[in-house]
Amino acid sequence: MTTVLQARDLRRHYAVSRGMFAEPATLKALDGASFTLARGKTLAVVGESGCGKSTLARLLTMIEEPTSGSFRIGETEVVGAKPEVRKSLRPKVQIVFQNPYGSLNPRQKIGHALEEPLLVNGRFSAAERTARAREMMGLVGLRPEHYDRYPHMFSGGQRQRIAIARALMLEPEILVLDEPVSALDLSIQAQVLNLLADLQERLHLAYVFISHDLSVVRHIADDVVVMYLGKVVEQGPRDQIFRNPKHPYTRALLSATPVADPGRKKERIVLTGELPSPLNPPSGCPFRTRCPLVQEVCARKMPALEQKGGQLVACHMV
Ligand SMILES: Nc1ncnc2c1ncn2[C@@H]1O[C@H](COP(=O)(O)OP(=O)(O)O)[C@@H](O)[C@H]1O
Ligand SMILES: [Mg+2]
Repeated sequence: MTTVLQARDLRRHYAVSRGMFAEPATLKALDGASFTLARGKTLAVVGESGCGKSTLARLLTMIEEPTSGSFRIGETEVVGAKPEVRKSLRPKVQIVFQNPYGSLNPRQKIGHALEEPLLVNGRFSAAERTARAREMMGLVGLRPEHYDRYPHMFSGGQRQRIAIARALMLEPEILVLDEPVSALDLSIQAQVLNLLADLQERLHLAYVFISHDLSVVRHIADDVVVMYLGKVVEQGPRDQIFRNPKHPYTRALLSATPVADPGRKKERIVLTGELPSPLNPPSGCPFRTRCPLVQEVCARKMPALEQKGGQLVACHMV
C-alpha cells in the first residue's frame, strides 16, 4: 500500500484575546493528531462541532501552518518546506466544504468556475481547460448543458457535485471533505456518498472525510479518528470502532445513531452536560465532565492515547 499522507502529532493553537489588559489565552483547537492514509483509502474524522476537525482540514490543505508537529504528502515533508516545494504539493490535496455555495461566484458560469484552478495553475490552454471541465462534469453526473449555467440554478446536491468536480480538476491524490453532506437532505446525502465512493474507486483517491455524525462515515471509512476538544480520544480500523467502541465518548456518539437492525439491542448513552469551552477545558481528561465512567484520577491526569485491543484509546477506565 502506498502512503499518500502521514501526520505526526499535529497541533494548532490560537492566541485568543481576552480584552485589552489581559494576557491572550491559548486555545488548543487541535492538540495532537497522528495518522497514516494510504492511496485509495478513507480516514474519517468524527466529533462534535468545535472539536478541531476543520482546523485539521486547514492544516492538511496548507491553508494554515501547524503550531507544531509535521506531516508528509507522499514522501515530502510539508512543514518547513520551501515555497516552491509547497506550491508543487498544493494540487495534490484539494478540499470540499460543507457549503459549496460560499465558494462559488454567483456571477460565474459553472464551466468557468471549474476551469479556474487550471487557469491559476497556468499550464493549460483554453481548449484543454474546457475539455477537462466537461470531462469532470460527466464524471460527477452533471449534464453538458450545465456548463453555461449559474450556481443559483442548481440544487444543493448538484452544487456539491460541482464542488467535487472542481476539486478534481488538478488531479489530486487526496480530497479533504469537510462535512461534505451535512447540509444535504438524507436521500441526497446517500447519492453524494455513493458518488464519492465511486470516484474513489475509479481515481484511487484518498479521502480525509470529516463529519460530526458517525453514522455518515460507517460505510465509507477505512479508519476512524474520534476527536473531543482538540484531542484524539479513539482511533482505529472502522470495524473495530463500530463493533467494539471502547472510549465512552465514542460509545455515546454511536448510541445516538440509528441502527439498521431494529432487532439488535442497543445500550443508550446520553451525553449529559454542555460541551466545555475549549478556552477553558477540564483538567486531566477533557471528556471527564460528561463521562459516565468518571473517577477521581480523570481530573488529575490526561490519559495517553494507547493501544487497547485493536485500536488506540485515551481513557483511564478502559
Ligand atoms: N482562527 C481561529 N482563532 C481562534 N480560534 C479558532 C480559530 N479557528 C478555530 N478556532 C477554534 O478552534 C476550535 C475548533 O474549531 P474547528 O476546527 O472549526 O472545529 P470543528 O470543525 O470540529 O467544528 C473551536 O473552539 C474554534 O472556535
Ligand atoms: Mg468544522
